[in-house]
Parts: sequence; C-alpha cells; structure tokens
Amino acid sequence: MAAAARWLLPQPPHMQQKQQQIILALLLLLASQCLHCCSAGYSEQEADRVAFLPGQTRTPRLSQFSGHVTVNKQNGRALFYWFFEAQAQPSHKPLLLWLNGGPGCSSVGYGAASELGPLRVSRFAAGLEFNKFAWNNEANLLFLESPVGVGFSYTNTSSDLDNLNDGFVAEDAYSFLLNWLERFPQYKDRDFYISGESYAGHYVPQLADRVYEGNKDKKASTSINLKGIIVGNPITDDYYDSKGLAEYAWSHAVVSDEVYERIKKVCDFRASKWTNDCDKAMGTIFRQYQEIDIYNIYAPKCNVAQTSVASAVDEALKYSNHERFRKRIRMFSGYDACYSSYAQQYFNKADVQRAFHANGNGMLPGKWQVCSDSILRTYNFSVLSVLPIYSKLIKAGLRVWIYSGDADGRVPVIGSRYCVEALGLPIKTQWQPWYLNKQVAGRFVEYDGITMVTIRGAGHLVPLNKPAEGLTLIDSFLLGKQLPTHL
Ligand SMILES: *[C@@H]1O[C@H](CO)[C@@H](O)[C@H](O)[C@H]1NC(C)=O
Ligand SMILES: *[C@@H]1O[C@H](CO)[C@@H](O)[C@H](O)[C@H]1NC(C)=O
Repeated sequence: MAAAARWLLPQPPHMQQKQQQIILALLLLLASQCLHCCSAGYSEQEADRVAFLPGQTRTPRLSQFSGHVTVNKQNGRALFYWFFEAQAQPSHKPLLLWLNGGPGCSSVGYGAASELGPLRVSRFAAGLEFNKFAWNNEANLLFLESPVGVGFSYTNTSSDLDNLNDGFVAEDAYSFLLNWLERFPQYKDRDFYISGESYAGHYVPQLADRVYEGNKDKKASTSINLKGIIVGNPITDDYYDSKGLAEYAWSHAVVSDEVYERIKKVCDFRASKWTNDCDKAMGTIFRQYQEIDIYNIYAPKCNVAQTSVASAVDEALKYSNHERFRKRIRMFSGYDACYSSYAQQYFNKADVQRAFHANGNGMLPGKWQVCSDSILRTYNFSVLSVLPIYSKLIKAGLRVWIYSGDADGRVPVIGSRYCVEALGLPIKTQWQPWYLNKQVAGRFVEYDGITMVTIRGAGHLVPLNKPAEGLTLIDSFLLGKQLPTHL
C-alpha cells in the first residue's frame, strides 16, 4: 500500500504531507470563499455597493456602500446608511459609527457630506470633493440616518413619528447594527466604536448601553465587539449644559453682568421646567446669539436663508409663546443652513438618489431634508441626563472620550467640563495643551475612565471647523494613544 502510494506520489513522506496540507488549505479557502460569496450577507452587500456618485472625484478610489436596512418589519421601518471602507488596509481597521443629532438631522448631510466623510458636497452642489482629513483614514466609517423620518430613513407607519424619544432611537439603531452586521459579516468581530456630536451626546451613550446589555445574552448573533465611544460638544446633562450655556455667554462678553446676575437669581436649572422669569432672562442670551453664530461665536455669521429651525426660534421669540419657546431653546438643533444648503441640493437630485439606492420606489414622502423640523417639534425629550450611563460604561471598561470645540456657545465647553467633573473620577494626567503644526491645538485632561479634549477655536462642528485637528483627535482615540504633548 505504502509502496503504491509512493509510486503514485513519488516524494518523501513529509512532502506528501505538505502537499496534502496545501490541497486541504486550498479546498478550505474555496469553501470559505464560496460560503462568503453565496451567503445572503455578501450578495446583499454587493447590491449596496456604490460604484460612483454623480460629480464624484475620480481619485482616490473609494470603496463605498449605501442602502436601507429594515429595523422593524411589523411597522415597516428602515434606516438608511452610507458606509466607507478605510482607505488602506480596511481588514485591519476598526469599525466606527457616526451619528448626528438634532434631533432630526442627517448624518449623511452633515457628518458625511459636510464634516468628516471622504466625499463632501462641493460649492453649488456641483459634485463631491475628496476630503483628505476624512475619518476613514483610520477606520471603516459608517454613517447612519437616525431615527426614522430623518433623511432617507422612513417608516410605513406614520404614527411612529409621534412616538420618537431616546429609547425608541436607541432600540432602532441597535436593531440596525445587528442587521447591518448580517449584511457585512466581515465586520462582526471587528473592534467597534460609536461617535457623534450635539444631540448625539444622548444617542451615543444610550446606544452603547443597549449594545452592552445585548452582549450579556452571550449569543453570537447579538454580540458586538464594542470598545468605546467618543462624542463632540455633546448634550449630556440638562442642568450642567444650561448652567454652562449661561456662564459661557457671560464670560465671552455676549451678555452683561446684570443679565447674568438675573439668570443666577431666577433660573433653577435643576428643575426640568424653567419658570417664566427664567425663560425671559435666558431669552436675552438667545436674542444676542441670533445676531452671531451661536455654534461658532467668533466666525462670521452665515447670511444665506435661515434654516427652518432658526426661523422657528425667531418665531417663538417674536410671539413669546412660552411653551414653544421653552421647548425650542432646549432642543436647538446645532446646525446651520450655511453648512448644508449644498448638501440639500445635491441629495435631492434624481441621479444622485438612484446611484445612492436611496429613494427606490419613491418611499420618501417629500424632499430629502438635511434636518427635519417636524421631528425636532415632536421629539419627546424625556431623558434629562446621560451621566449615569457614562458611569456604567466607564465601569464596564469602555474607552470614553468627550471633545469640545471651545468656541461653541450652544453646548459650550464649560458645561461639558462640569459634566465630566460630576463623574467624580480621579485625575490621571493634568489639564495640558496638545499640539499640531507647532501650535496649541487645544487642551486635554485624562481621568481614570474618561478623557476630555478641547479643540481651540473650533465651534460646534469640530471636523468642519478644524479638520486636521479633528483627524488627529480621532486617530489618537482609535489607537488608544495620548494626544501629541510636544511641539
Ligand atoms: C414600506 O412599504 C413599501 C410599499 O409597500 C414596501 O415596498 C417597503 O418594503 C416597506 N418597507 C419596509 C421596511 O417594510
Ligand atoms: C414621553 O416619554 C416618556 C418616557 O418614555 C413618557 O412617560 C411620556 O408619556 C411621553 N410623553 C409624551 C407626550 O408622549
């Protein structure tokens, strides 16, 4: 037997073994390839591939996908995503989800096309320009339009839109993640991070909490390899954020000492409802901010047509409608028409929507909007603080960073500092500058469990205002290394 075999395969036994191993490996490879390409995930994935978007720059080549993921079959809810693989070595890079806030603003229109995505809508919506500071330098970058009613995300049950609150948003976003990972199974075990800004200061920790709870099931189908969260100018805690807003307006010479004294006297920011007197006093601040850009207080004011949100604030101020005004100033969306009017033009083009797999059977009830005013109006703000969730996530060992553009008057750095201090964690490294291009780019302080970073001179939209600093920040976060502390 052995002789015959040796005759058939005239090689020494160890070579024979090696050859068998190679054949076996090849077979396994073929089998796994076949499993990959034939599994539902991979074919759905390929159907979502975006070859080329109208007006996109030819170089560099980007691997991108977009489409809807069903999050609730019964009511017919589907969320829209835009995904970019990392520009180099995507299989070695983590997965990063980005969420914009509002509530009601689009992560496609803001995060992707105006802030940190590799393709940004160019002036006059002529096309898409490559952004060399894109965050997919270091990560596979996923933008999600959330909740339903935002951007291309929709529901077939219109009453869903009356029930939106933080819990609803987190549940649908979680369901999105699980289903998206079925479509992109190569990312299932990948290190995963969640990021966002403004009202996503609520979404991000709550989604992380939902993932953390889901992981306790110990089922492979719901296991997500969540490693950390990072949020920018985040709405975190009503009390500290409001206190910070008032102090920032006073300390940046936006309002007088008298106004500030009055606010301190009549406003109890610990109460979930402000009194009439407090509304009036805070109204003085907002009236001053109407004339400059509250989101970037030293920048020139944008003079294109006001957003629906801004004009709604005007209206509320004009008619001094107490209830509406109170609600308005609590939920100010954080976004301005100047950053987004081109995106609004671009994503309403029929050829763009086609290439984007966005509005297939005309499911979109109206125009694609960068922010939905009706969501802002109907959203149920039932959570006043996400600080308890921070404590929980930090205990769970997740990497947690907060960053703040220090020229934002809406969710100012002062309030974020109060929030971080309120966590009561021991300091690991003292408040100190960090550097980029031989300049102080901002400051940071490291606690046992959380890092707080400022970006000097940036407003509410850090990656838009300070793109190079924004990229250094996300790289440091993802690689788990300290920001540069030397010139
Ligand atoms: C919503 O309804 C449309 C039209 O019936 C259907 O094509 C689509 O699949 C539904 N969406 C979901 C998520 O079920
Ligand atoms: C808002 O949400 C809270 C918490 O889920 C709920 O108790 C309350 O009834 C809701 N309010 C409205 C107006 O829907």
